[in-house]
Amino acid sequence: MAQTNISHLMVLSLFLCLSFSPVYSFHLNPNFYEQSCPKAEEIVRSVVVKAVQKETRMTASLRRLHFHDCFVQAGGPNWVVPLGRRDSKTASLSGSNRNTPQPNNTFQTIIIKFKVQDLNIADLVALSGSHTIGNARCTSFRQRLYNQSGNGQADYTLQQVYANQLRSRCPRSGGDNNLFSMDLVSPAKFDNYYYKNILAQREFLILIKFF
Ligand SMILES: *[C@@H]1O[C@H](CO)[C@@H](O)[C@H](O)[C@H]1NC(C)=O
Ligand SMILES: *[C@@H]1O[C@H](CO)[C@@H](O)[C@H](O)[C@H]1NC(C)=O
Repeated sequence: MAQTNISHLMVLSLFLCLSFSPVYSFHLNPNFYEQSCPKAEEIVRSVVVKAVQKETRMTASLRRLHFHDCFVQAGGPNWVVPLGRRDSKTASLSGSNRNTPQPNNTFQTIIIKFKVQDLNIADLVALSGSHTIGNARCTSFRQRLYNQSGNGQADYTLQQVYANQLRSRCPRSGGDNNLFSMDLVSPAKFDNYYYKNILAQREFLILIKFF
């Protein structure tokens, strides 16, 4: 998978730097590589730029990787990241699926999952905005198109015309892996169209309802 490749690349770049590092410290620090690998960020940045040039979805994949790994230390478009973290030896797929929000979680479940991480509804609204880039698989939102509340009906808050377009490529069964832009207006741009689409009822991945 492309996402896996880029994370391997990043880990590899950092690992190569680390192998020449005389001192190992286990404290995370934004300046962790200052002495051991002063060009670490530059190297990672250039690798990421190349990867994004090759495949724009990489921005979304990396953002998701960040979210899953860190869940979450954000504060606006930029934040200081403490560096020096080692790969986990105890990564758990089931733990990750249990703790991170899933597309078919209810609003209440998502609120609880955020609360466990000490994040509130304002954080939830802000972080949801990152769905302005990237794609989602049909299987992640099929429920909204066919059986949102368990009564065999589509979600009535989804615009009819748009829902029909989605259904044509996301049938009741099959086509699970068909991809859809999460922001149909500007799929590759980090902007505020995720929210505008929700207000226009043209967003299939609603984590939050504003009304
Ligand atoms: C939610 O989706 C996951 C797969 O992403 C599936 O395993 C699970 O059964 C779904 N839960 C419900 C309640 O639909
Ligand atoms: C809709 O979902 C409910 C509850 O999950 C289920 O019992 C029902 O069979 C589903 N209906 C259709 C048409 O899939």
